[in-house]
Amino acid sequence: MNSFHVVQWIDGHLRMLDQRVLPHEEVFIDYTSAEETARGIRDMVVRGAPAIGCAAAFGVVVEAFRIAASGIPSSWPQAMAPGLRALEESRPTAVNLRWSLERMRPLLVSTPPGDVPQRLLDEAQAILREDHAACLQMGRFGARVLPDTPGRPLTIMTHCNAGALATGGVYGTALGVIRGAVDAGRAVRVIACETRPFLQGARLTAWELLKDGIDTTLITDNMAAHLMSQGLIDVVVVGSDRVAANGDAANKIGTLGHAICASRYRIPFMVVAPLSTVDRNAPDGSHIPIEERPMTEVTHIGGVRTAAPGVKVRNPAFDVTPAELITWFVSERGAMEHPTREKMRLLFLG
Ligand code: MRU
Repeated sequence: MNSFHVVQWIDGHLRMLDQRVLPHEEVFIDYTSAEETARGIRDMVVRGAPAIGCAAAFGVVVEAFRIAASGIPSSWPQAMAPGLRALEESRPTAVNLRWSLERMRPLLVSTPPGDVPQRLLDEAQAILREDHAACLQMGRFGARVLPDTPGRPLTIMTHCNAGALATGGVYGTALGVIRGAVDAGRAVRVIACETRPFLQGARLTAWELLKDGIDTTLITDNMAAHLMSQGLIDVVVVGSDRVAANGDAANKIGTLGHAICASRYRIPFMVVAPLSTVDRNAPDGSHIPIEERPMTEVTHIGGVRTAAPGVKVRNPAFDVTPAELITWFVSERGAMEHPTREKMRLLFLG
């Protein structure tokens, strides 16, 4: 199994794999301030909810080392406020971003001032290690409840990229379940949806799974319903950017259509996400902010304009799948069948 250097701490700075140019080039970019890191997150150098959370944590670390280089400030919270704000505002839907900043923030006051940068670094490293462990757990739990397909391989459809590239670099969430199934000895085939407009499925999921030697077939998003209607998909497995307290789950635009279709053809629909993706302050999906991204992502493909000049454009980057359409919600605590508000509440009691 490959691991990917999505977010690394190297020689005193943050290094991230530039996911915008994959699969054609493997380029790394170094970051030395929170402002730059926030730009990297907004421009999708790094993307995927847990990966954004890890990047933001290290963005806080580089900012602290940058500030400390010209002397320990009299107030860490005050000195760090602009950087924290830039990170917080970089992308609105993935709640892991806020979750990881909320883990870092109290350390600015609870740590002796001279030790703050190193303490923040320890915490960011812990977030990354926990992410790896959670992905491996989710992979095992999810794989156990995949449908049986006696005598033939299991065909799993996925959308966007919820793989190692979308997390701390190991296993992934939805792709972690696929890897968990492969590791458990199952014969698996993957149908990867292209994922317009940013093409995370075509560029990232296909690249990542092929590197692991997993049988992967690419389709455009509008082919999914046809394949489901033909009985060619056994299960749909996706990640999430924010799961509300009632189990509604936001994920890459297009996921909702797949969920509705899966329900129509009685295909199990699995959402895989760590607890850091659950927003207990969002009572249901209507409280999840949906990011609108630049219109050039829709009007252009690979830098070439395909849309008629002057046309109006919408580019919501996420949609919300209601809990009632979700067959399994898999976290590092286990696999929950048909999530409800009450089951989600119990999840946090241990
Ligand atoms: O816009 P992106 O590429 O950040 O969107 C990513 C997704 O929608 C993923 O499915 C989600 O973050 C889960 S990643 C484990």
